[in-house]
Amino acid sequence: MLTAAFLGLVSAVMAIPAPAPVAEPTIPAAIVVRVPEPTAAPDLIERNIIDDVETYVEGIVSDVASSISSLVNSGILDFHGFPTGTAVEKTLGISDDDLDAQPTQVLNIPPYANWTDAGWSVRVHGNVYKLPNVSQDKIDDLANVFLIDTEVDELSDSGKAQARNLTRSIFVVQQDDESVTVDFVNNFQVADGSGVVSAKGGSQKIKLPYNTTEEGDFDTFVTLRNTSDSGGYLTPGNETSRVQAINLYAEGTNNNGNSTAYLVPTEGITIISDIDDILRVTKIYEPKEGLLNTFARAFTPWRNMPDIYANWSTSLPETHFHYLTTTPEQGTRNYMEFIYDTYPLGSFDTRPLNFSDVSATLAIRRFLLDKVFQTFPNRRFVLVADTSNSDVMKAYPALYKDYPGQVQCIFLRNTSATDEGDRFPYNTEGFKDIPQERYMFFKVPDDLRNLDIANGHCYNSSIKQNVTFDYQGLPFGLSDDDNAASGGVAPRLGTVAVGVVVGLLALLV
Ligand SMILES: *[C@@H]1O[C@H](CO)[C@@H](O)[C@H](O)[C@H]1NC(C)=O
Ligand SMILES: *[C@@H]1O[C@H](CO)[C@@H](O)[C@H](O)[C@H]1NC(C)=O
Ligand SMILES: *[C@@H]1O[C@H](CO)[C@@H](O)[C@H](O)[C@H]1NC(C)=O
Ligand SMILES: *[C@@H]1O[C@H](CO)[C@@H](O)[C@H](O)[C@H]1NC(C)=O
Ligand SMILES: *[C@@H]1O[C@H](CO)[C@@H](O)[C@H](O)[C@H]1NC(C)=O
Ligand SMILES: *[C@@H]1O[C@H](CO)[C@@H](O)[C@H](O)[C@H]1NC(C)=O
Ligand SMILES: *[C@@H]1O[C@H](CO)[C@@H](O)[C@H](O)[C@H]1NC(C)=O
Ligand SMILES: *[C@@H]1O[C@H](CO)[C@@H](O)[C@H](O)[C@H]1NC(C)=O
Ligand SMILES: *[C@@H]1O[C@H](CO)[C@@H](O)[C@H](O)[C@H]1NC(C)=O
Ligand SMILES: *[C@@H]1O[C@H](CO)[C@@H](O)[C@H](O)[C@H]1NC(C)=O
Ligand SMILES: *[C@@H]1O[C@H](CO)[C@@H](O)[C@H](O)[C@H]1NC(C)=O
Ligand SMILES: *[C@@H]1O[C@H](CO)[C@@H](O)[C@H](O)[C@H]1NC(C)=O
Repeated sequence: MLTAAFLGLVSAVMAIPAPAPVAEPTIPAAIVVRVPEPTAAPDLIERNIIDDVETYVEGIVSDVASSISSLVNSGILDFHGFPTGTAVEKTLGISDDDLDAQPTQVLNIPPYANWTDAGWSVRVHGNVYKLPNVSQDKIDDLANVFLIDTEVDELSDSGKAQARNLTRSIFVVQQDDESVTVDFVNNFQVADGSGVVSAKGGSQKIKLPYNTTEEGDFDTFVTLRNTSDSGGYLTPGNETSRVQAINLYAEGTNNNGNSTAYLVPTEGITIISDIDDILRVTKIYEPKEGLLNTFARAFTPWRNMPDIYANWSTSLPETHFHYLTTTPEQGTRNYMEFIYDTYPLGSFDTRPLNFSDVSATLAIRRFLLDKVFQTFPNRRFVLVADTSNSDVMKAYPALYKDYPGQVQCIFLRNTSATDEGDRFPYNTEGFKDIPQERYMFFKVPDDLRNLDIANGHCYNSSIKQNVTFDYQGLPFGLSDDDNAASGGVAPRLGTVAVGVVVGLLALLV
């Protein structure tokens, strides 16, 4: 029943047709047909190809229940159908009274701060929520929806714990119109090998100027006074090249509203990194695997990527790391725990809850990226992600053009080069006119070794590039030049098919 209610809820949001059975991508007859007779109806041929491409893309997601195929696009939790607020209460059958008895919790997402005429300005953001008291049986029913071909009962103990944890994190009840007060305390412990220093002053209490939104979110800049602790002070952002860290605690929580703010100097290099399929093995492009890797298996680093980041953190000691993923806010704690155990410390962005309809979902990455760029107009950025995110493929090269001189390097893992399971098409058009020196499509983490990033040498000349500035990785060889050469019709069909694939991918978000 519960499961049915949840499915009903999500399918109301997602109007995805039931996927067709997996069709191995065979070369459709239409594409090898020579130039058709003048009398042949082109519509028919186009229709064939559209059918085949539709079947192809649907095939990719067909091993996942249609109701959750929306998880697929750019983050396995990239799902605008997670219930919020009263929808959660209804799904779980809990009352306001039950909820009142539970403590208020605050997800305090590690912020960045910029240096302004008024002092350090910190972007405090996160969410206020309550964790309803739900029985394990109910949670298991809900978790089973996300597990394909298995169930909670069949998982190892650690798998069970993870599935239950993430499911409980999704079914929280966000609290609107709450006032949030944070205590800044300069008790940050510097980790070995980290270039980040502990702030010497700045302890203070700040009440945020706005209450939480309808979805329980808060997101606002606050200015730190230059208070002194035992004679120390905050260092101005134009007088240091080091990132200063200061802890902040949300009041009235059971100690899990803690966070660390990173005070980032006016000038320097910021590495903005996506997480799924670049820092951890997710396999978003194989939805069933993607779900299991998120709900049922420990988060695992992608190859030796942690070595590369550790090295950047020590060999470029003044670097600021910012982790920007479009995974929904509900998964933030799990992503943070993995990142801080495995990669250098840094600020964080996940998807705010008000970005919920389809068009907003497509816009969220660019929105968050613009916010970072506008906050640090004098810093240079290294952008890292993989080719399986259509929003990355659009946003990263666009930023190079929209913020001249600010994008130092773009590094994209070519996911299909090491994982033939990735059959998602991607578009490299945005890279036209960007000098090769500034970007690289790479295969394995070692390709990133020994680059002179500080001086903008971002290309390892031993890594062969195959950038066509067009759609790549399309099925049936549609992106091959060979087809273009075979007659006037194929290119046009290719364009139609591309439209269909892209349309379907947009639907899948
Ligand atoms: C640093 O920034 C402050 C505030 O904007 C400004 O008053 C000061 O002149 C700057 N100092 C330097 C060395 O640029
Ligand atoms: C949660 O509900 C169970 C069963 O109703 C009850 O025994 C337990 O005390 C509750 N826990 C909390 C923290 O409210
Ligand atoms: C889930 O795990 C994360 C990371 O360990 C933890 O911070 C969080 O509190 C847990 N959430 C729930 C609902 O148990
Ligand atoms: C903000 O919330 C507090 C309670 O958390 C309430 O007393 C106050 O009136 C609210 N402020 C505004 C501006 O709505
Ligand atoms: C804080 O005050 C101290 C002492 O006046 C000064 O040296 C320091 O530059 C100030 N820092 C900021 C962030 O204004
Ligand atoms: C919050 O505190 C816990 C326990 O000390 C720590 O493991 C975690 O990293 C802290 N989180 C942040 C974001 O600082
Ligand atoms: C979401 O809220 C933020 C502020 O928290 C606001 O800047 C943004 O425009 C909102 N986005 C949408 C799509 O409503
Ligand atoms: C600091 O960040 C805010 C918010 O993004 C931005 O409006 C402002 O211009 C930035 N200030 C400076 C001096 O860069
Ligand atoms: C990515 O790798 C695949 C498989 O090796 C290759 O066909 C494709 O051209 C590569 N893409 C880019 C942009 O180099
Ligand atoms: C380039 O890539 C190769 C192969 O992964 C690696 O051995 C080498 O260190 C990289 N860097 C340079 C500058 O060649
Ligand atoms: C770390 O950086 C140094 C200097 O740039 C380089 O020699 C070394 O190969 C790098 N190691 C890794 C693991 O990338
Ligand atoms: C280069 O990319 C095109 C378009 O995706 C593809 O058809 C071709 O096989 C690729 N070549 C290599 C050598 O990977």
